Amino acid sequence: MATTSGKPGIFAIRDVRSLISETAEEGQGLKKSVGVVQLTAMGVGAIIGTGIFVVIGKGAGIAGPAVILSFVLAAVACAFSALSYAELASSIPVSGSAYTYTYATLGEIVAWIIGWDLILEYGVSVAGIAVGWGGNLNAFLDAAFGYQLPDAIAKSPSEGGVFNLPAVFIVLAITLLLVRGVTESARANLVMVVIKLAVLIFFLVVAFANFGTGNFKPFAPDGVDGVTAAAAIIFFAYIGFDAVSTGSEEAKKPGRDLPIAILASLGICTLFYVLTAVGAIGIATPDQMKGSDAPLAAALDQGAGISWAAGILALGAVVAITSVVLVIFYGQTRIFFAMCRDGLMPRRLATVNQRYGTPARLTIGLGVLIAILAALVPLGTIVELVNIGTLFAFVLVNIGVIILRRTRPEMPRPYRVPWSPVLPIIGVLFALYLMSDLPWETWMRFGVWLVLGIVIYVLYGYRNSRLRTEPQSTPAWAKDPDSDKDPEENQP
Ligand code: ALA
Repeated sequence: MATTSGKPGIFAIRDVRSLISETAEEGQGLKKSVGVVQLTAMGVGAIIGTGIFVVIGKGAGIAGPAVILSFVLAAVACAFSALSYAELASSIPVSGSAYTYTYATLGEIVAWIIGWDLILEYGVSVAGIAVGWGGNLNAFLDAAFGYQLPDAIAKSPSEGGVFNLPAVFIVLAITLLLVRGVTESARANLVMVVIKLAVLIFFLVVAFANFGTGNFKPFAPDGVDGVTAAAAIIFFAYIGFDAVSTGSEEAKKPGRDLPIAILASLGICTLFYVLTAVGAIGIATPDQMKGSDAPLAAALDQGAGISWAAGILALGAVVAITSVVLVIFYGQTRIFFAMCRDGLMPRRLATVNQRYGTPARLTIGLGVLIAILAALVPLGTIVELVNIGTLFAFVLVNIGVIILRRTRPEMPRPYRVPWSPVLPIIGVLFALYLMSDLPWETWMRFGVWLVLGIVIYVLYGYRNSRLRTEPQSTPAWAKDPDSDKDPEENQP
């Protein structure tokens, strides 16, 4: 929307071609080095973590044995959005994921809001996940060596400690790995993915060897409400397939590989999750799992009488959560990178280190901030807050597919969502449905976060946006949504 001064308004959109061409700008091009196996492993790396190793217990407490259905429901809800992510990631292979897609479809202010929202999904969750990592490290040390780190250096102030050293350690270690290079990070991730799948397979073998049907009754003590309420929390376990799309720019063959990686990683994890939930209920009651910090280990211990397995599962959880931190933090750096490159955040941060081909300065800056947060905040309600932020991103990504099909029908789309707009609309409805099941406090906190974001946009982003600071190139990018003109017609 053009303003009276002739500057692009807050709903100005970026032209897809200029977004893609900017990725090749001097000093701002990321290295294209990731293939389909690594991308799929990135998805699995980001997905399997706290959700299946920890949050499953909370879900079982809410839905009872029907937590199995909650896993299915959350997966179905994700599947529709995954299709939309696949279409947009393959047709706009630019860093930034939902943020960039929204910039190309719904306009700058909405893009900013979603970018700010993704900081919540990725950045804040990394701090929370790192705290969970520390807890599992302690569980592993305890199970394997009978030793635990003292509370003073293993807990946040509100939990009776001074600061959380393990959480800081893991964030800084991952920061260095990400600075070092995306190939190295992807390789390390691949190893961790193999280990965590092996640990889950171990769980499944033991669980199915001791399986009984007695715990399945009553199957759904709280009926459909219990199933959906648990699904809104279990949803956390699936977050991460979308992180694959944050790395679009580093994919060797984005058009083909991104849709495969997004859908395959979601499919693989769904299979593992549903089997794990069935196996867990086959050996333990929901009550035995619900209060535990390590519900799968509790299931093996109390349900199958195998106490020595706790160490293996704790180690599995530590490794799993490490890869989640790695990929989600990676996603955060790439979204931030795109926001800086667009001028909505300081542009000088969007420089790529010549030696490593990664945005090193930005990665270190974010790493330090996240480490400080991780040292001081408890895990608390982060799961719900992260869920609402992610679901909101899903809503906009699905809408983005529908809008872009109308505004740019001719654009090359290596992957297309079938039956659009029906499937994207179902994706929106599922996301809204799960959001509606989250507590009102979560909505309040989310609202406060968004208001803060809008204030920052008004004070900084609006003025420094590349759409306005580079007026000579503005006409090629900006399109007045009220006008029917194609952006190219505006070119000087
Ligand atoms: N899906 C990720 C996990 O469960 C965020 O840890």
